[in-house]
Amino acid sequence: MTIIDGKALSEKIKSEIAQEVEKIKKGGGKIPHLAAVLVGDNPASKVYVRNKTRSCEKVGFKSTLVRKGAGVTEQELIETVHALNNDDDIDGFIVQLPLPKHINEEKITLAIDPKKDVDGFHPVNFGRMALGLPCYLPATPFGIVTMLERYGIETSGKHAVIVGRSNIVGTPMSILLSRKAKVGNCTVTITHSRTQGLSGILRQADIIVAAIGIPNFIKKDMVQKGAVVIDVGINRVEDASRKRGYRLVGDVDYEAVAPLCSYITPVPGGVGPMTVTSLLLNTLKASRKEVYGS
Ligand code: GUN
Repeated sequence: MTIIDGKALSEKIKSEIAQEVEKIKKGGGKIPHLAAVLVGDNPASKVYVRNKTRSCEKVGFKSTLVRKGAGVTEQELIETVHALNNDDDIDGFIVQLPLPKHINEEKITLAIDPKKDVDGFHPVNFGRMALGLPCYLPATPFGIVTMLERYGIETSGKHAVIVGRSNIVGTPMSILLSRKAKVGNCTVTITHSRTQGLSGILRQADIIVAAIGIPNFIKKDMVQKGAVVIDVGINRVEDASRKRGYRLVGDVDYEAVAPLCSYITPVPGGVGPMTVTSLLLNTLKASRKEVYGS
């Protein structure tokens, strides 16, 4: 059994990005610049955004944090997005989700210029992904594909079972793994809360991608020997023994499932660190105008 070390891999990729930034600097080019919009005080969102801006600093990118109060109006937020769309120094930006209930997330996502949509959430990028055209891949699926590629895990002809059909993980993973590509060519089954006989389906999986947000949901009797298990869950469970009062667990019952697997991602330290690194890779692509040209 091999533990896929997302933390170490993300550090390696970050050092590769830092070298690219050094080259850009030496050549007198423009330093990649990522902006993040954070609305309100959601503690998890604050942590995620801090990780993103810190990672930018680490690789030598410029980063800008735009903070808005929880009471910001939808119109004000759309104006913020338009200002970022029109700011030539900013190569890409993200609006951290979730947004307060009075703001329509879809409207905000649609207001982002697809050329700067380094989250890959805009329908133009999603559609281009589905068609196999150059695009910004959403960070989590991009991170997973990168892990599979860098660990040399064969996907061609394998049965991948995805648990969860969200727009940002389950659905894009189903598209990417079935695509005719280096990491792809899987036979994909996408499962969700209404799926009947989930355990039986999972037992036929060569690759499992768990993205449902239920702690320890995938048990050992649902996994066949030799499976590759990718755990996307980041669930907080109460833990009085920890200073902060909780610990993070995945969607997979790790202790019981890991011994069965050929490869497994831990939580924390698996998929999570790779998502931020993917965002940096997308920002580098944006600054090089690799996806959409000038
Ligand atoms: N909230 C949870 N994950 C993400 C993400 O990848 N991007 C943004 N913008 N918000 C999120």
